[in-house]
Formats: sequence, structure tokens, C-alpha cells
Amino acid sequence: MQVSVTVNNRLRSADVEPRTLLVDLLRDEFELTGTKVGCDTGECGACTVLLDGQSVKSCLTLAAQVDGAEVVTIEGVAEDGRLNELQEGFVESHGVQCGFCTPGMIMALTDLLQHEPNPSEEQIRAALEGTLCRCTGYQNVVKAVQYAVQKANSPVRMIVDTPGKRFYQRQVEYLVAGDPDALVDDNYHDDAVLTAFEFKVEGKEALRKHFRNYLRWVNIKRVISTDNFAETGNTILFEATVESNHGVVQVYDAMVLRDGKIAYHFTGVK
Ligand code: FES
Ligand code: FES
Repeated sequence: MQVSVTVNNRLRSADVEPRTLLVDLLRDEFELTGTKVGCDTGECGACTVLLDGQSVKSCLTLAAQVDGAEVVTIEGVAEDGRLNELQEGFVESHGVQCGFCTPGMIMALTDLLQHEPNPSEEQIRAALEGTLCRCTGYQNVVKAVQYAVQKANSPVRMIVDTPGKRFYQRQVEYLVAGDPDALVDDNYHDDAVLTAFEFKVEGKEALRKHFRNYLRWVNIKRVISTDNFAETGNTILFEATVESNHGVVQVYDAMVLRDGKIAYHFTGVK
């Protein structure tokens, strides 16, 4: 029989036997081998995928049942070629050892976060029922989810745990709020210099005027990701991908702080 299904946003078709399982369709026909087979009896969760937004065990689902449906596998969760926050959480929180259970866990937890963006520890543990890990255990997996939640809730899309990151978050909050006077008063010194290839602004009054004009023209909606971030005691360097009313742009900045405020700021758009 012919089955057509959208997998990871791509329409796929295959000729299968009526008894073919979804996991075999994915692995054998579509070569999406990130979905694992641990038990084949619905107990381990290694084969978990999203079917029309709900996590299901693909070893308990017939290929025929997904005709016309939408399936997401572990190969489909990265965003623009980058690990998403949950995947990054597994790396940062050491939630993986052999990795066999990881694709299924990530799909089950993706379902959780889609329906409950701020889950309690109890809810995270409940979502992990039905997934078995034989080597890492669950503690670091819980931490991985908490990492993902914290990052998703941060306006600068990073774990804010250092003075430089806290300063950067404050800078973004003022820009997103469209408050040029508070931005300059709280974050820049009286003699601060803001420069780019095409302009140089010096002193607080000129900075206020600059940011008032800038924010009249540019409406920053959110930071999509902070690609590179480095800081020393008084210097912050970063690249970020930002969504504004002019679309998605990549920006880079270098800030030199004195007593917790900007003394020198170089900025540019990639
Ligand atoms: S392989 Fe499907 S639950 Fe174990
Ligand atoms: S990381 Fe090995 S089974 Fe979970």
C-alpha cells in the first residue's frame, strides 16, 4: 500500500506492507536512523517521534496510520542547522552518555515543552515516564530541560550567569522596550563613545539623540540567538542574530566597561 506523510516538513511517500511499523518506515524507507529501536514492545521509548504534534512510540504505530499526517523525528528538531535549546541543554548538562535513549527523550520532552513551556520538575519527570535510560539516569536530563527553559525565557537567548551577560541582557531589555533615555542613563558613562564604520557619537546627550532616532526607525523584537559571546573583566564581545521590523539581521558589538557602564562601544551589522 502507498503511504504519504510529511516528515520533518518534507512530503515523503513509500510503498509498504500493511503490517509495516512507523519506526521501520522512518529508518528503512526514509533512512532517518536517529529514531532508535530498543525493545520493539513499547517499553523503552527510544523510538518516540511526534505524530501531529503528540509524542508516540513509533514501534507501536503502523505506517498506514500516518498516511496524510505530519511526523517530526530527531533529525527535524534543530533550528537553522543549530542545536535547539533542549538539545544544547543535553550537551551542557551532561544528559547523554551512550546516547541511545536520547532521540526518544528529546522527542518526548519536545512534546512537553510545546504544551507546557515552563514545566515543574514533577512535570518533567512525568514526561520521562515511558523512556528508559540505562546509563545516564534522569537527574541530568531534568537539568537539561531546566537549561532549555531558562534559555528560552531569557530575552538574550542565553544562560545569563556572568556580569557581562547580565549587562548585555540589560542592554537588550532597554532596546526591546524602546526606552532610549533609560538605556543611555543606566548603561553609558557621561563621556562614552559609540562608534560604527559610518558614525561616531560622543557624550550622553548625543547618545540619547542617537538612540531616540535609532529606535524611531528600528523596532527590535527579540534576540533569536547569541552566536558568540566572550567577556573579560571589562570587555564584552558578541555576535547575535536579531529580529527587528526590518527582518532578521546579524549584529556584532564590542563594549568596554568602566565601573559597570559603557565607556566605549563599537557596533556593526554583518
Ligand atoms: S522501541 Fe519502541 S518503545 Fe522501545
Ligand atoms: S544515555 Fe545511554 S541509555 Fe540513556
